Amino acid sequence: MSEDVAVAVDRYIEGLFGGQDAVLEAAQQRAADAGLPAISVSAPLGRFLHVLALACGARQVLEIGTLAGYSAIWMARALAAGGRLVTLEANEEYAEIAGANVADAGLDDVIEIRRGRALETLAELEREQAGPFDLVFLDADKEPYTEYLQAALRLSRPGTLIVADNVVYAGQVLSEEPSEMVAGLQRFNRALAAESGVRAAIVQTTGVKGHDGMALAVVREA
Ligand code: SAH
Ligand code: DHB
Ligand code: MG
Repeated sequence: MSEDVAVAVDRYIEGLFGGQDAVLEAAQQRAADAGLPAISVSAPLGRFLHVLALACGARQVLEIGTLAGYSAIWMARALAAGGRLVTLEANEEYAEIAGANVADAGLDDVIEIRRGRALETLAELEREQAGPFDLVFLDADKEPYTEYLQAALRLSRPGTLIVADNVVYAGQVLSEEPSEMVAGLQRFNRALAAESGVRAAIVQTTGVKGHDGMALAVVREA
């Protein structure tokens, strides 16, 4: 399939659902105006995350990698009353933009943006016994994805859904001479497949963000 068809199908999917609303549009616009990299999930995959959050009846969501808050807003909108979403971001400027987007989305009381490097803020969440989370979305730097998975497992309960973005990376996960980043993804994929504490799958994705993939894992009974 050509990339053009994949892009057109993404537009088609968006069209079916009336596209994203003004709040999400404005969030992406603010990110673009501030020069943030265009690496959020696509609108169809944002909707996918929203549906996953609904499917697990999520009340507590953890996201690793906020950027401008786009995926966080999609997921937070699926939360039952009283639910909360904690999202981790190392870049101060990005966290600032995300904060403005979250406020404009009316989700100040739902989304907590925690600043700092994720390995540290994850340890902080463990110390606070902030878990268990019902849904965890991994989407920060790729080198430590395996460590993020281990932390996510410690913050989980049986039935928790763990989702990881970018696990195919335009097919670069096939490479025998991977970049550090892709090596991190390969290590994560192997660790996930070997992890007896979860039942996992990896699905390839395509569309406006090109060829990629998401891993989905459900935490099993101990
Ligand atoms: N989930 C977002 C996209 C996240 S992009 C969305 O779909 O809308 C990845 C983000 O992870 C970037 O904002 C980057 O600054 C952040 N990041 C990278 N390394 C990090 C680290 N060690 N700790 C926390 N955040 C990190
Ligand atoms: C890239 C894409 C992502 O979705 C992400 O989380 C990080 C990086 C990229 O295309 O480089
Ligand atoms: Mg990503």
